[in-house]
Amino acid sequence: MTTRIIGTGSYAPENRVTNDDLAKIMETSDEWIRTRTGISERHISSGEGTSFMAAEAAKQALEMAGVKAEELDIILLATSSPDKCFPSGACEVQAAIGAKNAVAFDLSAACSGFIFALNTVHSFFKSGIYKTGLIIGCDELSKLVDWSDRRTCVLFGDGAGAAVVKADETGIKHLIMGSDGVKGPVLECVSRTTENFLTKGHPQVGYMTMDGQEVFKFAVKKVPECIRQLLEETGVDKEEIKYFVLHQANYRIFESIAKRLDVSLDRFPMNIDRYGNTSGASIPLILDEMNREGKFEKGDKIIIAGFGAGLTWGATLMEW
Ligand code: ACO
Repeated sequence: MTTRIIGTGSYAPENRVTNDDLAKIMETSDEWIRTRTGISERHISSGEGTSFMAAEAAKQALEMAGVKAEELDIILLATSSPDKCFPSGACEVQAAIGAKNAVAFDLSAACSGFIFALNTVHSFFKSGIYKTGLIIGCDELSKLVDWSDRRTCVLFGDGAGAAVVKADETGIKHLIMGSDGVKGPVLECVSRTTENFLTKGHPQVGYMTMDGQEVFKFAVKKVPECIRQLLEETGVDKEEIKYFVLHQANYRIFESIAKRLDVSLDRFPMNIDRYGNTSGASIPLILDEMNREGKFEKGDKIIIAGFGAGLTWGATLMEW
């Protein structure tokens, strides 16, 4: 028994912010951003919130799958930017869509979140505990980035992507996940300081900090490593893989990974130009776009791979 994606959905806020829009409020340019990252514009929340975006993507995925919300056994929301400390965003989605029979919780693995969530639900399916699940990757990083730090803020956008999964005979073939907590400080966002009102006054809210070059080095080393391992352990040749659907972080990261794997760049679908880096949402968002464009046929082998804060990474080989 394995796990098959039977429906996808996505949501991005209506508010689109171009590189030129950013250049009006900070020392940057469309040329700098496009040539370094491949990003032209991103969607930025005007107050939609993580749970709202996640629920909208979920509704679309359920509709495509032809699954009623009450049929869901489990809802996993991968996010680093929930609206609330509690209840979880997943519970808010559960309420919004009426999935009264599901267990719902959030999972935090930053840009690897969707893969970690998919693999977690897959384990529940394999052990026979659940049969029908909803996985959502959703982030509203616009509230976590430091808008006075041009090195980071220009990279990110908000959005959500979702997939309905079912226990089935075909689907996930193999998966790999990993973490390296020692490297955590290269990409972090303190949610509150450890100070509290009784001892130190009002706690401060933190913003994202990133060592861009370290993240770059990590991604271009770890992702090919992980994909090679996946291919080796399944005995699948890289030429059998139709698409390598990667976390959408940066065009130059894609170029480097494609080169290291010796695979043509056109097998790495990209929508980073229109969305920027939407963190946990980026993989399900592009999966949904491709699915709706009819890019996947039954039996296609695809690899999805994510990498991000933690540091974390993960890859899954699946048959559509
Ligand atoms: N506009 C104009 N100039 C800028 C901007 C900007 N937005 N940002 C930085 N600069 C300037 C810097 O101030 C610096 O100028 P200086 O030399 O006068 O000081 C110069 O550009 C180079 O800055 P670096 O930070 O060294 O730029 P770098 O070439 O490393 O590119 C980038 C930065 C694009 C972030 C790159 O490091 C990268 O792609 N890293 C990967 C990080 C990533 O993708 N993170 C996503 C989140 S993590 C994830 O999703 C897994």
